[in-house]
Amino acid sequence: MTQVFENNDLQPVGYGRMLRKEDARLLRGRGRFVDDVQLPGMLHLAILRSPFAHATIVSIDTSAAEASPGVRAVVTGETLKGLGLAWMPTLSNDVQAVLATDKVRFQGQEVAFVVAEDRYQARDALELIDVEYDVLEPVVDVRKALSPDAPVIRTDLEGKTDNHVFDWETGDEEETNRVFAAADVIVKEDIVYPRVHPAPMETCGSVADFDPVEGRLRLWSTTQAPHAHRTLYAIVAGIPEHKIQVIAPDIGGGFGNKVPIYPGYVHSIVGSIVTGRPVKWMEDRSENLISTGFARDYIMRAEIAATSEGKILAIRTNVLADHGAFNGTAAPVKYPAGFFGVFTGSYDLQAAHCKMTAVYTNKAPGGVAYACSFRITEAVYLVERIVDALAYELRMDPAELRLKNFIRPEQFPYTTKTGWVYDSGDYEPTMRLAMEMAGYDELRKEQAEKRARGELMGIGIAFFTEAVGAGPRKNMDILGLGMADGCELRVHPTGKAVVRLSVKTQGQGHETTFAQIVAEELGIPPADIDVLHGDTDNTPFGLGTYGSRSTPVSGAAAALVARKVRDKAKLIASAMLEVSVADLDWVKGSFQVKGDPGRSVTIQEIAFRAHGAGDLPDGVEGGLEAQICYNPSNLTYPHGAYICVVDIDPGTAEVKVRRFIAVDDCGTRINPMIIEGQVHGGLTDGVGMALMEMISFDEDGNCLGASLMDYLIPTALEVPDWETGFTVTPSPHHPIGAKGIGESATVGSPPAIVNAVVDALKPFGIRHADMPLTPSRVWDAMRGRATPP
Ligand code: CDP
Repeated sequence: MTQVFENNDLQPVGYGRMLRKEDARLLRGRGRFVDDVQLPGMLHLAILRSPFAHATIVSIDTSAAEASPGVRAVVTGETLKGLGLAWMPTLSNDVQAVLATDKVRFQGQEVAFVVAEDRYQARDALELIDVEYDVLEPVVDVRKALSPDAPVIRTDLEGKTDNHVFDWETGDEEETNRVFAAADVIVKEDIVYPRVHPAPMETCGSVADFDPVEGRLRLWSTTQAPHAHRTLYAIVAGIPEHKIQVIAPDIGGGFGNKVPIYPGYVHSIVGSIVTGRPVKWMEDRSENLISTGFARDYIMRAEIAATSEGKILAIRTNVLADHGAFNGTAAPVKYPAGFFGVFTGSYDLQAAHCKMTAVYTNKAPGGVAYACSFRITEAVYLVERIVDALAYELRMDPAELRLKNFIRPEQFPYTTKTGWVYDSGDYEPTMRLAMEMAGYDELRKEQAEKRARGELMGIGIAFFTEAVGAGPRKNMDILGLGMADGCELRVHPTGKAVVRLSVKTQGQGHETTFAQIVAEELGIPPADIDVLHGDTDNTPFGLGTYGSRSTPVSGAAAALVARKVRDKAKLIASAMLEVSVADLDWVKGSFQVKGDPGRSVTIQEIAFRAHGAGDLPDGVEGGLEAQICYNPSNLTYPHGAYICVVDIDPGTAEVKVRRFIAVDDCGTRINPMIIEGQVHGGLTDGVGMALMEMISFDEDGNCLGASLMDYLIPTALEVPDWETGFTVTPSPHHPIGAKGIGESATVGSPPAIVNAVVDALKPFGIRHADMPLTPSRVWDAMRGRATPP
């Protein structure tokens, strides 16, 4: 149902619906994105990419390109090798070629770049670079990557004789096997989460401006993590960190795609150093889809053990993870498989175990957390699919099975069998609300009637628990950088304020919600609070925005820094009102004398006094500002209940999502309008992944999803009017009780949709079918044919 918002222009002093402050510029075309940056004398960079998935580079002749009109530099891997820049570290402790030197390892890999006076000259000159390749056998099928006769992809790694990246294990294998051995029912399913791409509207790019006199680098870049990137550039390029300014201006969607450091960013820096002029690099759509961070690509064997009454006892899984040619994902060092460890979901189990093997293949690097907290999407999909398969075998209603097995409210904080401590949750009311909104019982009746008539209607349920807000620095870091976030707040003399964040919005509305957080704490209207972010010269250090970590980490920092300011304001207020601090009450926006509300001073009056003439109390410095670095004590664990209704055309096997009910619980809600926007976007993502999206390859390793004509993403035509609801279970350790919401819907919706499709296909005896459930796959499933790999 479309929701009609009232009071849309309301400016609450704190939490509540409020139109986005940033939209004033974005909707008028006044946003400033990387490609809008124009600097005097700026050159343009284009990248020559490998046409082969696996090939030795025999020779590269750049002479014709160098002589081409407007060309200022042509750079190859050999040039970079001379500078010690041919390889760079990834954000997951691997190395990646900045430009290929020895061989190419995926189609689309960077082989050389041209810097020219304009984009067209740069592109034209690429055609003149003559590369001789000796084509090698590619490793495309992840299942074959570890076979002894598979060609070794990473010959650059000393002593490497296979395509193995890492093994990882969590849970108790022995105990899990014991529980399985005693169980009444065991259900096993092979489940594939295919390779998909975040496909943000804005592709990746950068503008580098190196000043050789001062040795200073300014880099405008499409990054979700400007501070982490700056540190890495300092380490790789040897430019001191204080002489690097990374600026992430407006970003047109990130979804995890803009977390890794791509060779193109480094190329623009090298290009600027080599030519002495600013250099812009901007990908086109195909380059983005072929060569930048893909997501998922997990082949999972899932097993669930239960009693015949439907008490779930244990889950075990074996995963084969395709990481592409370089392990280019960003994951906390101790979590090579991200947060896949939450695969036990929202259920109270006796045991769980996971074994994972990650391998290299001749595909683009990645494994990025596409709108999810480090592999939580895969984990939630696994558990929600296998629980449905269990319901199928037990002939139980999938809602009833879930309700029977939920972790109960009194069990929180709940430690899972894989060691995660869920902070808070009350699952049953969330599930019941979704069922009530859906009219669940009536839907089942309608389905029975339709089945009797041969119509294919499905009802799918998914219940998820996420782990977002990485993370406590004691056990989470990326390349040694602790996952904490800074925040600074200054209140100016007139009571207007500026808050500086280390996180970076890519469309999530931080300029609004972070102003609201400060407004709630200080009583200053959000319109009077400027939110600065994305520029490393003007913001405190922190690890950036991904994995829905902004509100759990930086949001907490914003609340606490405002409280610090309030504490100082209280001291000043006590002097202004000539009472002791113990005699003051805080009433949002002012301090009042206890029992005498007529005597009060506003935060604006206090701000003026803090900067004004006259004495301040002993020990209180002038000004009204504070800073903080917030280290979360735990992750936050949002949850949600999703119900999807689909109809399948029996003649064409086309799936139509008729209804989708999403009830989310992200604790305290800062701006419900923004939350709904986040949920709508994530649900749309889910329709794409469940029904349309897959980056596939042919046997030579050619990428078959290189344009949006081949890689289909959903439009308004494919999605229903979303029906959203919410419950509120605050996080006990977050200062305002908020949990993340940015990615919940992307995580929770694919299993709800797939469960609905499989439910619709029940009359065909189908218990599982792999995404994307395109008409041809559904057709095959209806005819009892296996899903092609
Ligand atoms: O890290 P990211 O911004 O992608 O995700 P998030 O922290 O979940 O926040 C997404 C947007 O929703 C931000 O503007 C948040 O401030 C807002 N939000 C909210 O209004 N209330 C919450 N409890 C959580 C997020």
